Amino acid sequence: MCCSSAEPRKIPAAPGRGWGIGGLRLPSPFLLAPMAGVTDRPFRAMAIAEGAALTYSEMASAAALSHRGKKTIRLLSHHGENVPFAVQLFGKLPSELAEAARIATLEHGASLIDINMACPARKVLRSGHGAALLSQPSLCLGLCESVARAVDVPLTVKCRPGLAPPEGGREPQVYELAKGLESAGVRAVALHPRYASQGFRGQADWSLVKGLSERVGITVIGSGDIDSPESALLRLKDSGASLVMLGRAVRGRPWLFGQCLDLLGEGSYSEPTLSQRLGHALRHARLEHDELGPRAVFPLRSILPWYIKGLPGASGFRDRICHEADFGRQLDIVTEAFERAMRAGDGDGAEGDMGAQGARTGPSGHMARGGANGGERDGEGAS
Ligand SMILES: Cc1cc2nc3c(=O)[nH]c(=O)nc-3n(C[C@H](O)[C@H](O)[C@H](O)COP(=O)(O)O)c2cc1C
Repeated sequence: MCCSSAEPRKIPAAPGRGWGIGGLRLPSPFLLAPMAGVTDRPFRAMAIAEGAALTYSEMASAAALSHRGKKTIRLLSHHGENVPFAVQLFGKLPSELAEAARIATLEHGASLIDINMACPARKVLRSGHGAALLSQPSLCLGLCESVARAVDVPLTVKCRPGLAPPEGGREPQVYELAKGLESAGVRAVALHPRYASQGFRGQADWSLVKGLSERVGITVIGSGDIDSPESALLRLKDSGASLVMLGRAVRGRPWLFGQCLDLLGEGSYSEPTLSQRLGHALRHARLEHDELGPRAVFPLRSILPWYIKGLPGASGFRDRICHEADFGRQLDIVTEAFERAMRAGDGDGAEGDMGAQGARTGPSGHMARGGANGGERDGEGAS
């Protein structure tokens, strides 16, 4: 049963030896992708309540963490989270990364350390971090060896296939690197199959995930454009990845995790009703307020519009939320947006929604009952 976080969720039986990374066992194959500026503690709590098997910190600077920078330490706070917590580090000095990894595990209880070799932001690339590391294979391996020696938890790497599509019949940089990563002590590689030069443009090329999984013996995690339970299961079936990450599609749709679990375990899932969606939005807002107090109004200017996307008049409500400086009034505006959609019912007002009854889909993704138009999924996945 989807969308009722009060009920204990039925976890589907795992295939073979189960899901995991190195010695870390996971309850399902659906992970929350790391997203800087997005996957803060409240966001993670929403995803965990719906069944995310592993969450990541926002990307943390190894340099800052090794000096115990207060802001960076705050990123590592995961009090009350009951699933494994991965800390993603960026850095380019082996000793600094190793020290940061030690601090993250020994002092902050990280269950896994991930090294970012994926970030395509110009500033990050110019400083030789993120995806820029892919063009320095020996440095990459040195970083991994140093961190793997420093900690007892599994080490993973998240990367792009390379800086740019290879020329002259060469293979993507990640293929050349992958074997070395394995012997450097890396337990899983997470691949977002767009070259760094693409940013987020075009479609994720999952044939690159398949190619990687054919070349390495360690766990491969796929990440890119999963925006429905059907696409999550399809990628697990077809790409050779044994775990997948859900990223942008979870913004305003934390229940996607529960739907993936239901489709995997029971062969069908239901869509949340408007009032359930409102409940999720209000809960997320209150968690932000618990975390930040009155300053929560600022992140909520991005967060609440995710939840009202597709409702009638969403853009007007979004503008009002973005100009509102009072937390209580932000909640009133979201509530008003949903109440207007509920009053409009199944007709023109239910744009992008499943109507008041919710709806259930079968394995093919076709509606088994209810009158959904599925429009909420359209247009997702682009940022
Ligand atoms: C706002 C935003 C921030 C992100 N930050 C990170 C990050 O800090 N580290 C990282 O490895 N990937 C980061 N990513 C990439 C995601 O983890 C994911 O690989 C990518 O968005 C593709 O998956 P999706 O289509 O499911 O969103 C970020 C993506 C977005 C949209």
